[in-house]
Amino acid sequence: MGLVPTMGALHAGHLSLVRAARAACDRVIVTIFVNPTQFNSAQDLASYPRTEAADAALLAPLGVDVIFAPSPDQVYPTGFASQISVSGVADPLEGALRPGHFAGVATVVAKLFGMTQADRAYFGEKDWQQLQVVRRMVADLNIKIEVIGCATLREADGLAMSSRNARLPAAARAAAPALFGAMKSVVAAVTTGGQADTAIKIAIAALHQAGFDRVEYLALHDGETMQPSTDLKRPLRLLVAAWIGEVRLIDNMAVTPAP
Ligand code: PAF
Repeated sequence: MGLVPTMGALHAGHLSLVRAARAACDRVIVTIFVNPTQFNSAQDLASYPRTEAADAALLAPLGVDVIFAPSPDQVYPTGFASQISVSGVADPLEGALRPGHFAGVATVVAKLFGMTQADRAYFGEKDWQQLQVVRRMVADLNIKIEVIGCATLREADGLAMSSRNARLPAAARAAAPALFGAMKSVVAAVTTGGQADTAIKIAIAALHQAGFDRVEYLALHDGETMQPSTDLKRPLRLLVAAWIGEVRLIDNMAVTPAP
C-alpha cells in the first residue's frame, strides 16, 4: 500500500507522487486533509485553497484506489492530547520561524501512517526539511514504513510547483522564478570555490530587486542533519523562504560539486 499524504489543492507535483506510488505499489491511497495544527496563523489556515472536487477529478485517471479526506473531528476527536515533537532536524529554518509547525506535521503524518497502515509513503522534496523530519520520526519511533522522497517539479520558468502559487497575483507570479535564479547563482558560486556569504548576499539583493519583499532565509545546511554547513563533502542543501506580497514561497536545491 502506497500513501500520498496531501493537503489538497493538487497540482502536477502531487500527481507525480501519485504516479510514483502507482508504479511501485499494489494499492494507492491519497489523503486530503488541511491539517489545522501545522498552520501558524488562523488567516493562513482559512485562506488555504480547498478544491476537493477538482482534486478528485485530477486523481480519477491515475488509478488511485482510495481518496481519504477526513474531517478535523475525525483526525482530532474530543480529548485528543498527544503530540510528536522531533528535535534537531526540525529546529532550524522552518522550525525556528514557524513554532509548532513540525510538531503538527509529525503528529498528523504519524496518524495518517497509523490510519492507513501503508507500507510506503511518498513526499515531495520541495518540503525538504519536512522530509527529513518525517525520516527522523520514522527511524526514531520504529514506524514500519518506507519513506520515499520525490524530486521537485518546476514550471517551465523554474518556479517550484506549489499549492500557494495559485495565490500569486500576475506581477508576483512573473517575479517568482527569481527564487530559482537566486538559488542557481549561489549553488554555482559555492561549487566553483566562491564565498558562500558573498554569493548569498548578492542573491538576496537580486531577489529584492526582482520584487520579493522579504527573504526569511537563504542558507546552506546539511541536507540530512539540517544543521548549518558549508561542507561540500556532505549532502549539502541550499534552502530558501521568501515573501512576495502576501505569499510565502519556499524552495531548495542540492549543492553538488562538479565532478
Ligand atoms: O506537505 C504537506 O502537504 C503536509 O505537510 C502533509 C505532509 C500532508 C501533512 O499535513
